[in-house]
Amino acid sequence: MFWQHHLSVFILSLSLLSQYPGYAKKSAPDAFRQPSSNAVDHVDSLIGNGGDSPNGSGGMIPSTAPPFAMTRWVAQTRQNYVSVTPYNYTDSTIHGFQGTHQPAIWMGESGQVIVAPGAGDVEAVFEARGMKFSHDDEIITPSYYSATLQAKTGGTIVAEQSATSRVGHLRFTFTDTEKPYVLIEASRASVMGSADPANVTHPLGAITIDPTRREVTGYNKERQDFIIGPNPAPSFAGYFVARFSEPIEEFGTASNSDGFVSVGEAQKEGKRTSGYVRFADEVRIVEVRIGVSFISIEQARENLDSEIPDGTTLEQTAKNVRRAWAEKLDRIQLEGASDDNQTVFYTAVFHGLQYPYEQSEGGRYYSGYDDAVHEGESYTGYSIWDTYRAIWTWQMLLAPERINGMVQSMLQDYREGGWLPMWKNIVETNIMVGTHADSLIAEAVLKGFTGFDLELAYGAVHKDATVPPENDWTTSYFDREENVGYEVRAGLSSVYASNGWVANDIHSESASRTLDYAYDDYATSILASLLNKSSDAAFFLNRSLVAPFSIFNNDTGFMEARNRDGSWAGQDEGWTEGDMWAYTFDVVHDVEALITRRGGNKSFVEFLDQHFDGGHNDHTNEPSHHIPYLYSLAGAASKTQERVREIAISNYNSTIRGLSGNEDCGQMSAWYIFSALGFYPVNPVSGDYVVGSPFYDRVTIDLPGKPKPLVITSRGASTKPYVASLKIDGKQTDTPIILHDQLVNGGEIDFVMSDNPTSWASETLVGCTFRVQM
Ligand SMILES: *[C@@H]1O[C@H](CO)[C@@H](O)[C@H](O)[C@H]1NC(C)=O
Ligand SMILES: *[C@@H]1O[C@H](CO)[C@@H](O)[C@H](O)[C@H]1NC(C)=O
Ligand SMILES: *[C@@H]1O[C@H](CO)[C@@H](O)[C@H](O)[C@H]1NC(C)=O
Ligand SMILES: *[C@@H]1O[C@H](CO)[C@@H](O)[C@H](O)[C@H]1NC(C)=O
Ligand SMILES: *[C@@H]1O[C@H](CO)[C@@H](O)[C@H](O)[C@H]1NC(C)=O
Ligand SMILES: *[C@@H]1O[C@H](CO)[C@@H](O)[C@H](O)[C@H]1NC(C)=O
Ligand SMILES: *[C@@H]1O[C@H](CO)[C@@H](O)[C@H](O)[C@H]1NC(C)=O
Ligand SMILES: *[C@@H]1O[C@H](CO)[C@@H](O)[C@H](O)[C@H]1NC(C)=O
Ligand SMILES: *[C@@H]1O[C@H](CO)[C@@H](O)[C@H](O)[C@H]1NC(C)=O
Repeated sequence: MFWQHHLSVFILSLSLLSQYPGYAKKSAPDAFRQPSSNAVDHVDSLIGNGGDSPNGSGGMIPSTAPPFAMTRWVAQTRQNYVSVTPYNYTDSTIHGFQGTHQPAIWMGESGQVIVAPGAGDVEAVFEARGMKFSHDDEIITPSYYSATLQAKTGGTIVAEQSATSRVGHLRFTFTDTEKPYVLIEASRASVMGSADPANVTHPLGAITIDPTRREVTGYNKERQDFIIGPNPAPSFAGYFVARFSEPIEEFGTASNSDGFVSVGEAQKEGKRTSGYVRFADEVRIVEVRIGVSFISIEQARENLDSEIPDGTTLEQTAKNVRRAWAEKLDRIQLEGASDDNQTVFYTAVFHGLQYPYEQSEGGRYYSGYDDAVHEGESYTGYSIWDTYRAIWTWQMLLAPERINGMVQSMLQDYREGGWLPMWKNIVETNIMVGTHADSLIAEAVLKGFTGFDLELAYGAVHKDATVPPENDWTTSYFDREENVGYEVRAGLSSVYASNGWVANDIHSESASRTLDYAYDDYATSILASLLNKSSDAAFFLNRSLVAPFSIFNNDTGFMEARNRDGSWAGQDEGWTEGDMWAYTFDVVHDVEALITRRGGNKSFVEFLDQHFDGGHNDHTNEPSHHIPYLYSLAGAASKTQERVREIAISNYNSTIRGLSGNEDCGQMSAWYIFSALGFYPVNPVSGDYVVGSPFYDRVTIDLPGKPKPLVITSRGASTKPYVASLKIDGKQTDTPIILHDQLVNGGEIDFVMSDNPTSWASETLVGCTFRVQM
């Protein structure tokens, strides 16, 4: 997912760096590097931070936090907004350490807090408080970060950082500096959309300093996405309680607008508000733990006391966080993977366990849908148009203990707001199209996750499939349209009226919507059938099979948008984040019918060749992700093997630019993970995986709670991309499909690899003149 707009004023001016000098991964000191874990040592959280433009970057930040953490802590090198991440490797100054809730580069920040050390006079203004640092002595790991800051008035401040889900843990060591202090920023000027002054808002924040408790508490009401989506969430705030290790000698509030400091002022609420605490001159080491909450200051304090109680050392915190990553990543052992391959693979797994993120605290959560606090488990940061494709499938394998809670959370959103989420960033943002929560839920139930109210779940999915949004005939629901209700299946009214398609003269992205809604209908039919609602199952199945071809233009052989009166709208019309090439392949639940429409297997394979050879495949965006796997479904598996390997090598690597497109809450990485294993969930809600080309000699996965490991063997795979034969649990198969049941309880998948294309599952290519060389 990406979104473009122009933003210039708020980006610090920098010399353009085409390279990234000084990029060399370093290990944490031994005291932080426990337990030992080859997998965690291979994670490089800078991967995905580089790139020439926001859309050509993973949009990832080198943050510290455990899996699915509510808050990720990161060194802040620039102001983060929609399309700008808080850390950018090309920058050379650090302006503080941010507890961020921004889930992806195209989304807004919500209720963040910033901790900025300093020495000498208090500097509250963003530009003024920045201190130079060098990547040469920066240490970046998932559980521990450190950098050496050059204090403006001389000396250095070594900043070290770790964090649990709801508490940041920082340690500042002052050497040869003037009077040490720590500033906490509660509110700043906030930009939504363009940097036009009319788009700048000034959310409220508050600071209270209690020197006897050595605490600074407060809140920040910033929620940059407030302008989009139907939920105003008026009570939303990010609350915090920062507790310091050293006695406070002096304190005050400060403005990050003009830098004005009020020494001795213990409380302030307002725009652009910060507070600071200063320590005795001889203090050299200051630790601060900062609990955050979406519920209250009291809850933030409880989070602090329960996650990082008094007396916990930074080393202990970092080790706990490392253990949490090791518990997941060490479940996967790779053989025959180069150092680089391991870095790419384990970083992908690391990226795939960050979102959605925890929104509940102590068994309760703030809901922005009804602006109240409820009991239960809650998550936010759901980029479902992206994540339904493969990362959800992967999370069901590697983090099954989270799935019921994540579904429960979506059902709470439905109960409190009336609809399942599309792109929940605290609340609904209406970003992207389709109601793919239908797919998440159907796939979860299909795979045996039933720890939630199934009838409520069906009611929610059924509503998506049958109830159009408000003012459906008169609202376009274009991307980020303001002042509209829940977008859900915008254009469903015209689907009913036309027997198939969303009308392009009424709705934005109409052709993409038509195809996405058809898939969602298919997911609805799967859920209905799992719940024995057979007439609903038949109805939605029929609609899911009919709708895609209602926009298939027999004359051109492409999917094309149509107007309400049935006329074709033009080949460039009606797409979102893709074009007619990618979207013509977007009938994952009925590939067979698509192949028939395109003249059968041979002709379909030629069409796929035109797509790839013509440069139409855009792996940087999701609509292309399943396309290389379609060859296998047309009897040309060796071409899938070749394309998958090429895409992996050209779009993923172990450098800072190692993601060619936005990570999108783990979907970009999920493609790599599954492809490396040798299969991919083309139609996720079917439970089937389509076979591709495994990358390494052997992968062993210790699936949580399963009796035996899943062992995928493919000797020589790194140099032999082609599959000669496949055995599943000892049985030969000629079909390039692996069923979920064949791997979910562990077992053996054995590939025999080959240097050259083989006839395995490639009957369409036999006797043809196709050239199958890399
Ligand atoms: C990082 O900063 C550079 C220089 O301003 C910019 O070209 C690049 O797009 C930024 N990266 C991202 C992901 O925003
Ligand atoms: C990404 O953004 C750049 C700069 O805004 C633009 O030139 C390019 O076309 C965009 N790429 C895509 C795939 O849209
Ligand atoms: C605010 O930003 C949005 C998104 O970029 C843009 O469409 C809108 O025109 C901007 N409004 C102003 C007043 O600049
Ligand atoms: C694995 O690593 C090797 C050596 O670094 C590299 O040449 C190869 O392209 C990598 N393979 C994949 C699939 O990334
Ligand atoms: C659906 O029907 C089957 C067969 O009668 C039964 O085993 C299953 O428990 C039913 N499922 C539900 C959710 O009622
Ligand atoms: C399938 O849908 C088509 C088009 O909406 C309709 O004409 C047909 O009757 C439906 N078939 C069934 C079996 O429901
Ligand atoms: C397009 O082709 C299909 C399959 O051959 C056929 O059923 C359908 O009627 C055709 N549509 C039109 C508008 O000719
Ligand atoms: C096309 O290929 C698929 C996959 O091998 C196969 O199942 C199907 O029968 C083939 N179709 C025809 C018409 O040969
Ligand atoms: C890594 O991948 C990026 C994005 O695809 C690409 O721009 C860059 O050249 C690659 N670097 C290496 C060393 O392969």
